[in-house]
Amino acid sequence: MAFAEKAVAALCAGVLVLGGGGAVRAATPQSEPPLYDSLEELGEALFFDPNLSMNRTQSCSTCHTPDAGFVDPRETDAGRAVSLGDDGQSLGTRNAPTASYAALTPPFHLGTDGKWVGGQFLDGRAATLEDQAGGPPVNPVEMGMPDHAAVVDRLRENSDYVAALQALVAPDIFDDADQAYAGMTKALAAYERTPEFAPFDSKYDRYLRGDYQLTPEEDLGRLLFFSQQFTNCNICHQLKTSPIDPEETFSNYQYHNIGVPANPAVAAVPDQGLLDNPQVTDPAEAGKFKVPSLRNVAVTAPYMHNGVFRDLRTVVLFYNKYNSKSAARQINRKRCLSGTLSAPARTAR
Ligand code: HEC
Ligand code: HEC
Repeated sequence: MAFAEKAVAALCAGVLVLGGGGAVRAATPQSEPPLYDSLEELGEALFFDPNLSMNRTQSCSTCHTPDAGFVDPRETDAGRAVSLGDDGQSLGTRNAPTASYAALTPPFHLGTDGKWVGGQFLDGRAATLEDQAGGPPVNPVEMGMPDHAAVVDRLRENSDYVAALQALVAPDIFDDADQAYAGMTKALAAYERTPEFAPFDSKYDRYLRGDYQLTPEEDLGRLLFFSQQFTNCNICHQLKTSPIDPEETFSNYQYHNIGVPANPAVAAVPDQGLLDNPQVTDPAEAGKFKVPSLRNVAVTAPYMHNGVFRDLRTVVLFYNKYNSKSAARQINRKRCLSGTLSAPARTAR
């Protein structure tokens, strides 16, 4: 009996919940249920919305296209090394990194060894994803909006954005442009933290889960990559202590100057790397760049901060130059000076 009573009470409560919403809606017919129930959903809509750029031609997804490993697949006068801005003319000076797995980058900080670690952008100048997301809309060579208030006016054009930000962040959020702008960055960051950006479902992940068998060549590559003896890739491109960690991002997020040559196709402003970060003042940090994650690397060409290498093989040859005294391997100086930067013929030894 007691159980039946409880069940009836629960059912009534359930019906009341269901009915309650209806009753409220009937009383105020103008308030539709919000289109975006969570910051993640709102962030997704914002990520793909070109209305946040001056001429309404580009969104975050233009330069971080999910189908292209979250990089910019568009061809420009400089190939795919840099990105074209919303004005249809401006070119950036850095290769758009993948936005996938960016949520796993630690905030910018000094490590226990006194070295800088983490942060968003190649110089870590944005401490968090929220800070980062505030940059592109008002960057003149990217989305090109004049200021935060102008971006907030674009948000206001969309009543679903307004309703969602009021419901999910603060009812009075639109009283202050900077507060509304911060709400937008919060939603974008929330979306970038969803598993869509960190699916861990590559061939490598499937291998770790026992769902895929590596070919002998792939397995040799894996052994070499993690080898302390031959390549040492893992000194910089390994985050976790175990080489079979299921959430490896292939970067320790430190900063190094590995001697990447200039890219003649990219505007010749000397890129100071880490020294461009306002928190960094030591001139010795000039030319250091954040170790990039190698997630999605097979599909995110070209490579390095300036997109100088078009093929993954050239990257490997570049590293090999330091490990091999063979004349045929000393490719970079010669090729980079002549501006021919694609992979040498497969027959090269
Ligand atoms: C015009 C192309 C372009 C647009 C539009 C753009 N980005 Fe980027 N993004 C870049 C470039 C280039 C960098 C690297 C810049 C640097 O290091 O100074 C970058 C860096 C990033 C990073 C840091 C990744 C890392 O590993 O450090 C994230 C995250 C990111 N963008 C997300 C976004 C979001 C969110 C938006 C929309 C609000 C956006 N981007 C719009 C080109 C673009
Ligand atoms: C001393 C640290 C260090 C070591 C060791 C190292 N890397 Fe890197 N790697 C970096 C840094 C820093 C960059 C970015 C450099 C730049 O943009 O100028 C990079 C960039 C790359 C890129 C380009 C990624 C992209 O999206 O542009 C690939 C691929 C890569 N490394 C693979 C390797 C391989 C393979 C090895 C071993 C043979 C290796 N790295 C060893 C620090 C290192």
